[in-house]
Amino acid sequence: MDETLAGPEKIVLDCDPGHDDAIALLLAHGSPRIELLAVTTVAGNQTLPKVMRNALSVARIAGMTGVPFAAGADRPLVRPIRLAPSIHGESGLDGPQLPEPSIRLDPRHAVDLIIDIVLEHEPGSVTLVPTGALTNIALAARMEPRIVDRVKRVVLMGGAVQGGNWSPVAEFNIVIDPEAAAIVFEAGWDVTMVGLDVTHQALATQEVVERIRRIDTAPARFVGELLDFFGSTYRDAQGFEHPPVHDPCAVAHVIDPGVVRATRMPIVVETAGVHTLGMTVADRRRPAPVGCRTSAALELDHARLWDLIVDALERIGDPG
Ligand code: BDR
Ligand code: CA
Repeated sequence: MDETLAGPEKIVLDCDPGHDDAIALLLAHGSPRIELLAVTTVAGNQTLPKVMRNALSVARIAGMTGVPFAAGADRPLVRPIRLAPSIHGESGLDGPQLPEPSIRLDPRHAVDLIIDIVLEHEPGSVTLVPTGALTNIALAARMEPRIVDRVKRVVLMGGAVQGGNWSPVAEFNIVIDPEAAAIVFEAGWDVTMVGLDVTHQALATQEVVERIRRIDTAPARFVGELLDFFGSTYRDAQGFEHPPVHDPCAVAHVIDPGVVRATRMPIVVETAGVHTLGMTVADRRRPAPVGCRTSAALELDHARLWDLIVDALERIGDPG
């Protein structure tokens, strides 16, 4: 089908805001190519109560109404919880002043909400976009295995074909719950890994930050303040000159696969390695075999990514 004639992509954003998760949420809300069906949260960057509150604060800043928000898993499937205050601060969203949430949480557990949404919609119409640990998604696949065939695809921020950030070979979202990640990568649905290979190129350069500040709306000023804090922790903790804005890359791939380009390859998750726990092992020795349903994003169009984010912020405007 001609993609330009198709309607917006229906997504569920499963996140742990988190500075880059917050920007991913704004991108999903502001993009005319996305229909945001629900926002669910999972412990990761900070504890579940903190990331849930952060998601609701972002919703208020963006003037979001009518989208259900639900809290999910408060810890990984089997391992003790590991948080990321060195990157996201004690609140999980340090930097800007956060408004009190104004919308009420959906009473359902995130896993139930994800299952309900997938079963309520046409088979093949809902894309899951996890930008945190894969705990909720793995639980949903286990609790209601029918969703595996009904989901259109899973486009996740996590992993890397090469390298890591939380260990030499593992990325944070995968290594904090590797068993959940293994379930998601091996479930049999279409999985696109938008990992560090591209997200480490998604830098919020000075030029990008100035462009966002020039929009001069409350949500854009909020993003500017997020990027100030994110820039300072990424400089101190990981030596980056400009912060890599990971999570919006997954949303951008759903909006336009030409902006974040992926290649089919078999990918599995290491759950038993002493030094390699949480590594996403991608087999690039030969072309992907017929029937391979995993892909990795390898190329990013930096200018177009930030065009999408700026455009979304302009469309959101000043909700007041
Ligand atoms: C991932 O880890 C989190 O800190 C970010 O929000 C992103 O999802 C990057 O490794
Ligand atoms: Ca995240």
